[in-house]
Amino acid sequence: MRGLIIGGNWKMNLGTPEETRVHLKELVSLTRSVNNVEIVVFPPFTTLYLAKELTKGSNIKIGAQNMHFELSGAYTGEISPKFIKSLGCEHVILGHSERRDIFHESDELINRKLKKALQMGLTPIVCIGEHLDERENGKTKEIIQYQMEHTFRGLIKEEILKTVIAYEPIWAIGTGKTATPEQAEEVHEFIREFLSQEYDESVARAIRIQYGGSINPTNAFDLFKEKNIDGGLVGGASLKPDSFHEIIKAAERIHDLE
Ligand code: 13P
Repeated sequence: MRGLIIGGNWKMNLGTPEETRVHLKELVSLTRSVNNVEIVVFPPFTTLYLAKELTKGSNIKIGAQNMHFELSGAYTGEISPKFIKSLGCEHVILGHSERRDIFHESDELINRKLKKALQMGLTPIVCIGEHLDERENGKTKEIIQYQMEHTFRGLIKEEILKTVIAYEPIWAIGTGKTATPEQAEEVHEFIREFLSQEYDESVARAIRIQYGGSINPTNAFDLFKEKNIDGGLVGGASLKPDSFHEIIKAAERIHDLE
């Protein structure tokens, strides 16, 4: 059985030591008794070290929101996967649509990062998703397939098995406009079909696929109960410990049903 994974992507929020301290102290205590759900919080780089310290011995793992594709060198302003790993972080988000759209990250660039993350033993959470006009023009699956073909290019079975995929329709991010469970499930199923063709059925069945885009305590349960949705990557609603905790509880309820 695939486990459920809930990520809290803080984006460029809560990055001061004080905000991190207040937030994580509360979240650690709220999630103390959570079982069977993997929780990963993604704070800004400035506060990763502190976040790791604050979550020691808790149920919360800490990951990074991005990384560079080399381990070191003349790349002003960039962060090496080696630095992330040295803090004890296990996860890294790659190819978020904000990285793709605002910072022009291509599938090829994300592919380089992905290979390096895997080499470094980090668990990559790779984001894919279509824009609103692409969905409206019936191009969703075409876009998803293109992104997967290029982002995962050259990955062997053992590598893809260590990867988590996050389907994040761009029109649903930060808009309050969530994909319906049926819309999300249709794409998640398509992602598994692709994995089954490119690799095999066992790979398709084993990989965890999160949904992301305006998840909140009210819609989380219905999304997570879909067969091919293995939890979520949460933006806005992860900025408040109690709403994030409610979403984690929705995932726990799903686990208890299975
Ligand atoms: P929102 O939950 O704010 O829509 O953000 C989703 C997201 O981008 C998570 O990576």
